[in-house]
Amino acid sequence: MATWSNFNLQNSASPLMEQIIFFHDHTLIILIMITILVGYLMINLFFNKYINRFLLEGQMIELIWTIIPTITLIFIALPSLRLLYLLDELNNPLITLKSIGHQWYWSYEYSDFNNVEFDSYMINYNNSNINNFRLLDVDNRIILPMNNQIRIMVTATDVIHSWTIPSLGVKIDANPGRLNQTNLFINRPGIFFGQCSEICGANHSFMPIMIESISIKNFINWINNYS
Ligand code: CUA
Repeated sequence: MATWSNFNLQNSASPLMEQIIFFHDHTLIILIMITILVGYLMINLFFNKYINRFLLEGQMIELIWTIIPTITLIFIALPSLRLLYLLDELNNPLITLKSIGHQWYWSYEYSDFNNVEFDSYMINYNNSNINNFRLLDVDNRIILPMNNQIRIMVTATDVIHSWTIPSLGVKIDANPGRLNQTNLFINRPGIFFGQCSEICGANHSFMPIMIESISIKNFINWINNYS
């Protein structure tokens, strides 16, 4: 989860988020190289004498400064497309979780298991309740098995919300009247947090998402004993 002074991306808990972080670092390196080059050129302008006897035409330099940025963009575009298609791919999911956005809470349905469903509200944080994560803790967590492909179906009942979990690389809009799909693979146990990221009204900041990732054995145990 995000903590104080967390400048970088959150630690990944899924293979796809790992790929997103690799792509971010790759693109950042290219960006730094461009910034250094352009910075060098701009500093050089200060020392320009504004004298050039041959400044009439410069086809060769124009060719060079057209081709080089094109090649640079290809080095960003191709890995970006690869990532885009990887994120969209569903690999034979084991279970399906439905997330429904409301003003202002999420509700969840496990339709594979005799329609287990519950609402998930943010819980209060005060002096008598200090073991919670402020603005991130909910009363009913999503329980999911780790090391399994999970399909997420997302929709909403009132306005547009967005089901977003940074450490899992998931961000998908919840639209009323539409059913969106994404997938998720959690590669370790733990608690992972997310928040709505589509400005949806007064309490937009107060509809967090909380996933508890556990072993498949414990997950089956939980779903069996769900009343
Ligand atoms: Cu729901 Cu913002």
